[in-house]
Amino acid sequence: MNIVLCGFMGCGKTTLGRLTAKKLGYDFIDMDKYIEESRKMTVAEIFEKYGEGGFRDIEHSACREIAMMKNVVVGAGGGALTFERNIEVLKDKCKIVFLRVDEKILLSRIRGDRKRPLVVGKSDDEIIELYTKRLPFYEKAADIIFDGGDNAEKDAERLSAIFS
Ligand code: S3P
Repeated sequence: MNIVLCGFMGCGKTTLGRLTAKKLGYDFIDMDKYIEESRKMTVAEIFEKYGEGGFRDIEHSACREIAMMKNVVVGAGGGALTFERNIEVLKDKCKIVFLRVDEKILLSRIRGDRKRPLVVGKSDDEIIELYTKRLPFYEKAADIIFDGGDNAEKDAERLSAIFS
């Protein structure tokens, strides 16, 4: 069984996912890194060259491939689980966890980040607007809603206990 962590940019999917995987003895897959390694391009370069639509298609292929894996914890890209086609391929094979974190914490972590194309040039209000729009999708996709954003080690302890 796989565990997929979803949630907005900056919620800590990678940090929590890595720690949780270690505790469970699972491998950890960072979806964006997986995409970057398979395409030999950064996410920002993919957005630049193919646009967001092109990135979403590549992301969907990654979801299909990841769904075939066994015993992995996955840190999904922040937009991945807001698309029905990705939820469909992951849902059967994975437990989906929405990592819910206070929006002020999210903003403080991602504001001004040049590596995240959807944040570049955006005001705080615009980022919050995107978060608010996505919230119901994360909630709908999730098997489990997990409140995080505190201490990553403690969060990983709590999250891995759910799956032990
Ligand atoms: C995105 C989030 C990013 C990355 C891409 C698009 C999004 O992942 O997949 O920039 O749509 O929220 P992180 O959530 O890991 O930053």
